[in-house]
Amino acid sequence: MNPMSTITTTIPLVEPWFPPAYADAVRDQVLSGFIGPGRATQEFAAALALFVGAERAVATVSGTVALTAAAKALRLEPGDEILVPAYGVISTINGFASAGLRPRLVDIDAKTGCLSPDGVAEAITERTRAVCFVNFSGYTGDNLTEIVTLCADRRLHLVEDAACALGHRHADRAAGTFGTVGTFSFSVPKVLTTGQGGAVVARDPVVLDRAAAYIDHGDLEWRRTNINRAIGTNLRFTDLQASLGLCQLHDIDARLERRRRSHAALRVRLGSRLYAVPGTEAPLHNIVFTSAPDALVSALKARGVTAVRQYRTISQHPAYRELADRPFPAADCWTDRAVYLPFGMAMTPDDAARVADAIRDADVPLEELGSA
Ligand SMILES: Cc1ncc(COP(=O)(O)O)c(C=O)c1O
Repeated sequence: MNPMSTITTTIPLVEPWFPPAYADAVRDQVLSGFIGPGRATQEFAAALALFVGAERAVATVSGTVALTAAAKALRLEPGDEILVPAYGVISTINGFASAGLRPRLVDIDAKTGCLSPDGVAEAITERTRAVCFVNFSGYTGDNLTEIVTLCADRRLHLVEDAACALGHRHADRAAGTFGTVGTFSFSVPKVLTTGQGGAVVARDPVVLDRAAAYIDHGDLEWRRTNINRAIGTNLRFTDLQASLGLCQLHDIDARLERRRRSHAALRVRLGSRLYAVPGTEAPLHNIVFTSAPDALVSALKARGVTAVRQYRTISQHPAYRELADRPFPAADCWTDRAVYLPFGMAMTPDDAARVADAIRDADVPLEELGSA
């Protein structure tokens, strides 16, 4: 049978999910006449901090900028070395490199997609000032807690890039709160999205003040005094975004449950061939591994399922070619084998069943590599 004959719509890679009440909240914000950075932004930041158990949160324009703000908040200077994973989204390294920091790539742990304590210990040099742990696809587990201890022992700052990990917990702590500073992203694929957006969280009020100053012209006082004591720029969040974000924070349990249900529907069909993370939450992405990723992507496309080969080893990007100072076999393995299936918040268990059927019909063998 023609595999297309029963398919009416293509399942997109990622689609957000907004119940009508969210549109009402944004409409109310517009009708209030105030859409700039104001009370809703403060409420959103306070609700986020409460949810993750941080002292405060500073909302900003993107997760990438949140990482830069984190570096500024820790007083990391141009030329300071920060260890970052050799595989993953370009945003993490860009958040630091664009501020003049010197990133050093560390291979990932093939099972989790995250940095491992041994990999970090081996990569530390006398120039290293900080480590950025990315909670890959939400992973929040032992690798992270061991790296927390390692950083404390070696007197290194730990930045936790929890962009994909909102709601994940380990050892009674929320993702984003393990490092000296944590960051989130609210871009479209995330469980909570404001279109674009990000946040910095921390416990230390001094660190938080520095992040807040960074996103508001370098000076926390200038709006009160009308005197600027530093050169800076404007990277603030808006109440329009916050009105949409607040609805989702109020609904966060339901949203996480929605993600758990679509992931579980896929997991029940694909078993351990689907990437998983420890804890009760689902990973943000639905990832499988195969030695024929292009064939799988094409076969899924023919069956109405959008899939992509998403990330690559960072040193394969021309901008970071000089960071290939040693091999990164696990990162290369993920680059060559990982296929990202549909994973958005709009995805339903029925969509997941369709994705699994398409994988079965595609007849491209999956591997277990990378399962946590
Ligand atoms: C792990 C990680 N870090 C940082 C970011 C950057 O976030 P943004 O796209 O909001 O700049 C993302 C976004 O996808 C991400 O997945």
